[in-house]
Amino acid sequence: MLEPVEYHFMQQLDTFLQHFEQSIQEDKFVRLTLSKKRTQDSTLKKVITKLVLIKKELHLSFIYRHRTKDITKNLLVDQALLEISSLIESSFSIANLFTSEADYSLEFISQQKSKLKKNKATFTSVPDRSHDKTKKRLINGNSYLSELGVLHQNGNIKKDKGDKFKQINKFIEIIDGLLRQHPTITDSTNLQVVDMGAGKGYLTFALYDYLTNTKKLPAQVKGVEVRQDLIDLCNTIAKKVNFNQLSFELGYISDYELGEVDMLIALHACDTATDDAIYKGIKANAQLIICAPCCHKQIRKQMTSSTTLQSVIDHGILKERQAEIVTDSIRASLLEAHGYKTKVFEFISSEHTGKNVMIVGQKHQARFDRQFHLDRIQQLKTEFGIEYHYLERKLGHG
Ligand SMILES: C[S@@+](CC[C@H](N)C(=O)[O-])C[C@H]1O[C@@H](n2cnc3c(N)ncnc32)[C@H](O)[C@@H]1O
Repeated sequence: MLEPVEYHFMQQLDTFLQHFEQSIQEDKFVRLTLSKKRTQDSTLKKVITKLVLIKKELHLSFIYRHRTKDITKNLLVDQALLEISSLIESSFSIANLFTSEADYSLEFISQQKSKLKKNKATFTSVPDRSHDKTKKRLINGNSYLSELGVLHQNGNIKKDKGDKFKQINKFIEIIDGLLRQHPTITDSTNLQVVDMGAGKGYLTFALYDYLTNTKKLPAQVKGVEVRQDLIDLCNTIAKKVNFNQLSFELGYISDYELGEVDMLIALHACDTATDDAIYKGIKANAQLIICAPCCHKQIRKQMTSSTTLQSVIDHGILKERQAEIVTDSIRASLLEAHGYKTKVFEFISSEHTGKNVMIVGQKHQARFDRQFHLDRIQQLKTEFGIEYHYLERKLGHG
């Protein structure tokens, strides 16, 4: 490692940029980051750049990390050099260049004083430049999507099905991410998946297609639905498109005899049907429980408050939203209380659907404090004068 030297900033910036250019010419560039903003003129916090091939030309992809969002911009290498130079000159105190040969860091102290350091390479190989360019398609089959009326026969999306298509893709992207975080699930020699309240089966078909055709996993997927017409339609399409291990069964979620299950899904199942599904999943020890709740009526009727919180439920729409938040918080806490690491996030932007919150529970083996979560639920219930939550009671608490 070279000793840091104090030197004139602009000269050191020049040397730093030469290393950057050279690393690109010699295909040794890994990444460049800019941090420690020295001006407070915007919400920009950090800049991360990587090299990507776009239409066979090398570009630097810039991620401008703001306080609440990321903005991405791709620039040709010459333009990127000017952009980096200007950002370091005007805004950032620290620039880090990672190459497969060495790491370089430039620290701005003042125009007369800066530090340029060379360190051992953190990364010894360069990333695949083409990797980020093409987004891998996670759903393959067009035929089931045209049978379900999402696509035309030629593969184009039907005019009124854009949102549905986006939702299907987003759902599969989420599943893809979850399976990466939970790889033991994919070790199963016969992955068992049940989709409770499958409806017309858009997401059930897409999930089957993703598991068996994209991931090449031996999977059996079942949809449970209370409407006979939908069961008949989905079974007919499954047969037609040769999805041999996909089937749909008539029944209520609460009555369904759930055998072994690895992944339990319940998307937009009405009101407490979501709770019935979570309950079944917990009892069957499902590794993954994924639900996107629909309406939240059960506790809304009970909600009242003797504290300042009354003002947040005074108005109908606010009460409705508060009921959603409280219901889903209780669901998440109950999953935690039963050994599930739980995440709650936006499934798809609210401009596409109002029903856009997803709760994911991933079974874990770590120790957990059930009472802690049950106490939290009790506090929340007390706060809002709630006598009981449906799922809580089903699970034998409260
Ligand atoms: C809003 S749709 C959602 C369909 C699908 N999961 C989706 O997200 O695209 C809800 C479906 O759940 C079914 N459903 C509601 N309550 C149910 C219950 N208790 N048991 C079985 N199916 C139910 C309804 O018939 C309807 O088809």
